[in-house]
Amino acid sequence: MSAAPRSLSVPALNLKAQYETIRDEIEPVVRRVLESQMFVLGPEVEELEKELAVYCGSARAVGCASGSDALLLPLMALGVGPGDEVITTPYSFFATAGSIWRTGAKPVFVDIEPDTYNLDPSLVEAAVTPRTKAIIPVHLYGQAADMDAIAAIATKHSLHVIEDAAQAIGALYKGKRVGGLGHIAAFSFYPSKNLGGFGDGGLMTTDDPVVARTLGRLRVHGMEPKYYHHEVGFNSRLDALQAAILRVKLKRLDGWTFERRQAAARYHLLFEAHGLTEWISLPREREGHVSVFNQYVIRVPASMRDALRESLSSRQIGTEIYYPVPLHLQSCFASLGHKPGDFPHSEAASRETLALPIYPELTDDQQRFVVGSIRQFMDAHAHGRLAADRAA
Ligand SMILES: Cc1ncc(COP(=O)(O)O)c(C=O)c1O
Repeated sequence: MSAAPRSLSVPALNLKAQYETIRDEIEPVVRRVLESQMFVLGPEVEELEKELAVYCGSARAVGCASGSDALLLPLMALGVGPGDEVITTPYSFFATAGSIWRTGAKPVFVDIEPDTYNLDPSLVEAAVTPRTKAIIPVHLYGQAADMDAIAAIATKHSLHVIEDAAQAIGALYKGKRVGGLGHIAAFSFYPSKNLGGFGDGGLMTTDDPVVARTLGRLRVHGMEPKYYHHEVGFNSRLDALQAAILRVKLKRLDGWTFERRQAAARYHLLFEAHGLTEWISLPREREGHVSVFNQYVIRVPASMRDALRESLSSRQIGTEIYYPVPLHLQSCFASLGHKPGDFPHSEAASRETLALPIYPELTDDQQRFVVGSIRQFMDAHAHGRLAADRAA
């Protein structure tokens, strides 16, 4: 193995590098939309919806303004509201639980599996009550949740399953793409996502034509036909500019996913070659799952996570913590009455995880610099501390 480069900037995310590879394709489609002067919904959005429905193996797709709305609109379409409960994970981006809260329903948290960070299906059934209406599993970091086990509980108790696939477009579960595994699925086009727009955007997929029609109505204030409202929705329309850009990027998505997976495999080899796997847990891909590695998240003892992050930052290596406070301990949910210790695996993950840079344009040299820098940190600071932790 060649030596790690001595110094190299490795941003946590590098959207500019990707833009440079597609600029020549993006500019003409932006011009096309400008010439059409049709900026909201319209043919570009309809074409994107058709292409993404096919991509996800779903009968219908409905664009909307964000991934957050792509969770809220399905809950509204299913009639979830005050007095209802929705089961989900406490270890996710806020929108997963925020969308439930905004309907007036109660988020009911169930802990995660410590190795995949996804909802633990073996704990779900105990959380079902007569008020439960739906389950929202999150395909965290790009790997699908254990959907068969979740679907079995949902079927037994007549519950809906809404996939939060914001981080996982293209991920496979037993040969099927996410987005076609539940009743409705939510996707985000936030720029850091694997299929990221040039602004906010989202999309829902479903096989149910009635639900699709309701979603299409709710995103335009519940209007059908024009200026007639039999239910109250809100404005969650997708821009034509975003749709046109996303259509260009969709053609590249599988290639980018391949490169993300190669980068993940390279990290794996480098961590092993540097003898770091005794101290650091690497992402675990379950059998039958193909992750799209929206994030590459390692796990280190809590006693050194923040110091490692600072050390990497001093070497211009960007990292992120997804997520430092699990949702059940967010102050806005204090009225739910949770306390530290309620969901130990989620709380441990919040203290121990660190997301390393991963994107299709990440170079071999950059990865060697990242892992070499982690090795140096361990040599300089960590061994004594870890040995003390273990002895304690
Ligand atoms: C798991 C998860 N759910 C929902 C969302 C919300 O998506 P958006 O930021 O597009 O509203 C995100 C993205 O930030 C996410 O990562």
